[in-house]
Amino acid sequence: MAAARRPFFCGNWKLNGSIAESLALATDVRNGVSSLRDVDVAVAPSFTALYAVAKRLEDGPVTVAAQDCFWEEKGAFTGEVAPSQLADAGCKHVIIGHSERRQLFGELDAAVNLKARAALRAGLAPIICVGETLAERDAGETMGRVQAQVDAALTDIDHASLERVVIAYEPVWAIGTGRNATPAQAQEVHHFIRSRIAGRAPAVAPRLRILYGGSMKPDNARALMAEADVDGGLVGGASLSAESFVRLVKEGSAT
Ligand code: 13P
Repeated sequence: MAAARRPFFCGNWKLNGSIAESLALATDVRNGVSSLRDVDVAVAPSFTALYAVAKRLEDGPVTVAAQDCFWEEKGAFTGEVAPSQLADAGCKHVIIGHSERRQLFGELDAAVNLKARAALRAGLAPIICVGETLAERDAGETMGRVQAQVDAALTDIDHASLERVVIAYEPVWAIGTGRNATPAQAQEVHHFIRSRIAGRAPAVAPRLRILYGGSMKPDNARALMAEADVDGGLVGGASLSAESFVRLVKEGSAT
């Protein structure tokens, strides 16, 4: 990771946890990272726990992310949650376009872009997920797929807003499989993403944080973070225990 960028680790808790369990985990994470100075840490609980967790963490260094949002502000959209409602609940970030949303819920690139722009309008920092499937990697289509996802997600986002965007490269074949991308594989795609962004916003690209996600663990975080363009992690399974997430954050921010 380049010194210009602060490492950022976000625990994506996915569909896990009661309010009480989320509060306990958030509190343990906060206590575990409170002495660390040179790293940003966030947790992303389920919608039902967002407000309680944000309240619990409001004085501490750990911030709160939502796992998804809608792009409209209000209206007849049963079941949807607006970015301004997430900000009202205490969120600072929102994960957008996670591969599970894309694969299981049919979310398209155009929706990812609408959500990212709506999040930015509400003052949230979107964490935009991109990444290829195993079939796409095997067919040599990794860069093409990632380029299409990045370009679509960032359409009509101006340079000032781009400063607040975080990209997460999450190869689908590495999510929840225990098989992480090698540091070199991650670096190749992270570098490609940064070059792609430099093409449209040369001043922003060196400051934009690109996180890696996909079986990131305490014992591989340091090697991944040693790569020049890997700036942090979007962490699933290893963020569900405070002990492993705190260890991962310490390992990852120690380089
Ligand atoms: P795992 O860390 O469980 O592989 O999940 C990664 C992920 O999807 C984070 O958003």
